[in-house]
Amino acid sequence: MSYDFKNKVVYQIWPRSFKDSNGDGIGDLGGVIEKLPYIKSLGADVIWLSPVYPSHNHDYGYDIDDYCAINPEFGTMEDFDRLVAEAKALGIGIVMDLVVNHTSSHHKWFRAAVEDPAGKYRDYYIFKKGRKADANPGYKLPVTTGTIPPNNWLSAFGGSAWQKDEKTGEYYLTLFTPNQCDLNWANPEVREEVWKIMRFWLDRGIAGFRLDVINAIAKREGLPDSGDPKKLNFPFEHIVSLPKTHEYLKEMHEKVLSHYDCFTVGEGMVTPLDAVLKYTGPGTNELDMMFQFDLALIGCGPLGKFDFRKLYHWTVREYKDIFDSWETGVEHGGGWLGNYISNHDQPRPVSRFGDDKKYRRESAKALAMINMTMYGTPFMYQGEEIGMTNCPLEPEEWKDFEAINDYEMLQSMMHVPAPIAKKIVQKMTRDHARTPMQWSAGKNAGFTDGEEAWMKINPNYTEINVEDDLKNPDSVIDFYKQLIRLRHLNDELNYGSYRMIAKSNRQVIAFLREYEGRRLLIAVNMTGRPARIDLGELEYRKGHIILGTHGSEKYSRFLTMQPFEGRIYRVGEA
Ligand code: GLC
Ligand code: CA
Repeated sequence: MSYDFKNKVVYQIWPRSFKDSNGDGIGDLGGVIEKLPYIKSLGADVIWLSPVYPSHNHDYGYDIDDYCAINPEFGTMEDFDRLVAEAKALGIGIVMDLVVNHTSSHHKWFRAAVEDPAGKYRDYYIFKKGRKADANPGYKLPVTTGTIPPNNWLSAFGGSAWQKDEKTGEYYLTLFTPNQCDLNWANPEVREEVWKIMRFWLDRGIAGFRLDVINAIAKREGLPDSGDPKKLNFPFEHIVSLPKTHEYLKEMHEKVLSHYDCFTVGEGMVTPLDAVLKYTGPGTNELDMMFQFDLALIGCGPLGKFDFRKLYHWTVREYKDIFDSWETGVEHGGGWLGNYISNHDQPRPVSRFGDDKKYRRESAKALAMINMTMYGTPFMYQGEEIGMTNCPLEPEEWKDFEAINDYEMLQSMMHVPAPIAKKIVQKMTRDHARTPMQWSAGKNAGFTDGEEAWMKINPNYTEINVEDDLKNPDSVIDFYKQLIRLRHLNDELNYGSYRMIAKSNRQVIAFLREYEGRRLLIAVNMTGRPARIDLGELEYRKGHIILGTHGSEKYSRFLTMQPFEGRIYRVGEA
């Protein structure tokens, strides 16, 4: 059945830090239910819930102990059913996070796989014999006795991707934290288990799934070394978007998704355009949309967010080029994107792409305008709507395995001095996105009535919080509401074509969206300096503003814009 995912706005919740309803300092489902009217008031149509399943929190929910239950820290299955029902009554769909590239090491399948090496669960995972320790790989490994891991694969969070199973001396694959054990998708029983899990939630009335690292579920047969065998390397070429991945997703579609009114959004590592088209293009019957990472990783080196070699420097021109090639490519290829400026894995967008000091409000609005008018379905992340910023965090305040581990790895593997490694992590850590939501200027930012939140609250909550923003007519939150309303009222933004204009302008990003003869022109100054843009030989001589960050401005060939000013014009009509 076809669910119209193109005209939706998705609000992402990372439940642990959204709202605590029982005073234990941890956000929960009760808190999400309590805030449903708030989410409705923003105009969001769908909530993507980051994982709420039982978990030992090695990766805060992305290490799942049981796929068909609710983490007691977050509530009960009754709470979940109530959430779905109350959201539905408000016209809001719930999207679950499906993390099935790996299970947690505490999952009963994995426990069984370890306890009974001859049993059927062994083949649910990827176990392999090690190599002789004297194979001398040329890279440092943790203390080993007798053997070293089967190949040189690096985990996404640093270190070897293999853990030793002490009982048999074999190794098992963990591409993320050592407690996230990769499932063996080549085993048809594993796939049937996944389809069962999906039906379990779909039958409870959810609107769909966000599929975690879904392009890595198939692994190259034989698990060969990646690149230079003398180094640990992340095995992109052996795990990303293999032909089998597409087969598995078609099977998922046929056996599960096609029987429900729902949608899917895929998350994957390094997802180039051609891959996105293969997953989401016409007639592929795989996924409805994918996320891309090129904008999120702008200014990072080729190895990702902690690759500091470009010093996180980027220009508006670079941003525009990446933006344009994605938007054009996806439109022409008939694919679809989920667009975002932040999520639970990224620093706060005003700190990363805007100005979190002098122009915090302005840049929060400017970035929101871009995200809400792009070609694709807009996703927004909790706290973005009030322009929350990165939080000053000392290493002892870091919660995320990625931060803690990569801090070590930068020093031990890349020989980065500790103070610099600390600065890099402090700039890019996912913990910025995970500090508690700032609801008010009151105790604990209104996040919890308890003594203390589970994680440090950004001290700027006294100035940046929902309650105060709601009182201020010029607020970021009010602007988000206007943008979402605009998106709902103008199908140009949902279904319209896309074309960038004034490409060579070094400060302003500008593009047209057109649908059934109606056109919108969006122009946003992405810098903290005034800008001027020449719209060129205007094809559309007439226009009037329908939304601006700085009030009304007349339309003309030459626009002068304030720092981080954004405007949306209706053009080409009499
Ligand atoms: C995805 C999630 C991230 C998680 C990883 C492993 O990238 O967004 O939070 O750590 O997958 O599950
Ligand atoms: Ca709680």
